[in-house]
Amino acid sequence: MKRIHPECDLITGKTVRRLFSVMSACVFVFFLATPVVNSEYADIVLNKRSEQEGERPVVFPHWFHRIRFQCRVCHTELGFEMRAGANNVTMDEISKGKFCGACHNGSIAWSIDNCGLCHSALPGTPAGVIGSHQTSGPGNW
Ligand code: HEC
Ligand code: HEC
Ligand code: HEC
Repeated sequence: MKRIHPECDLITGKTVRRLFSVMSACVFVFFLATPVVNSEYADIVLNKRSEQEGERPVVFPHWFHRIRFQCRVCHTELGFEMRAGANNVTMDEISKGKFCGACHNGSIAWSIDNCGLCHSALPGTPAGVIGSHQTSGPGNW
């Protein structure tokens, strides 16, 4: 009999293998994408100026903040861009109540006098997303 639709044939071993490899490619892509998702739970090191200016890099425990505040508080209202390393934050702006200073003002959270609680990474720690789930705590880097 002439095959009109060969692709409708019974599933052969070959198609099964092909399906399987497509599926494992998907799983692979999923795992590649996972760290991006995890960054919500990680610490983010900010170091555009700190070390150049003689301070330790800043450890921002993202996970700690996101369980307490909605995303939009920081990413819309306070203007933090959603990309590690994308934000130009200065101490001057912070002390005027912008960025971290909107909360770290001695009323919502401890004030900016506690330099070492934010500037807590070991010297040389590069900016970016580090680890996931939790920080070792301020000063433990
Ligand atoms: C207290 C403030 C704050 C809250 C709340 C917050 N974020 Fe962020 N987020 C930041 C800061 C600060 C950065 C890092 C910016 C930088 O490095 O310049 C960041 C970075 C990110 C990044 C980039 C990570 C990367 O890999 O580049 C993503 C994605 C993100 N946030 C998503 C979220 C989501 C989703 C929520 C809510 C569930 C949330 N954030 C809540 C402050 C916050
Ligand atoms: C609530 C967190 C926080 C606290 C507390 C804090 N800083 Fe910062 N500081 C930052 C962030 C975030 C940056 C920008 C990080 C970067 O990109 O290098 C920064 C940047 C700096 C810089 C780089 C140059 C500049 O002026 O922006 C210096 C110097 C600095 N801080 C000194 C201090 C000193 C001194 C104290 C204590 C009196 C202090 N910081 C307290 C978060 C903090
Ligand atoms: C929307 C408010 C908000 C913003 C914005 C914010 N914080 Fe916080 N942060 C808090 C609160 C609330 C706490 C808990 C304070 C306490 O325990 O007394 C905290 C705690 C912390 C801690 C200690 C975490 C721990 O394990 O105890 C660090 C470090 C910190 N913030 C750094 C930063 C830095 C750096 C920025 C800016 C990049 C920032 N925060 C922006 C509200 C904020």
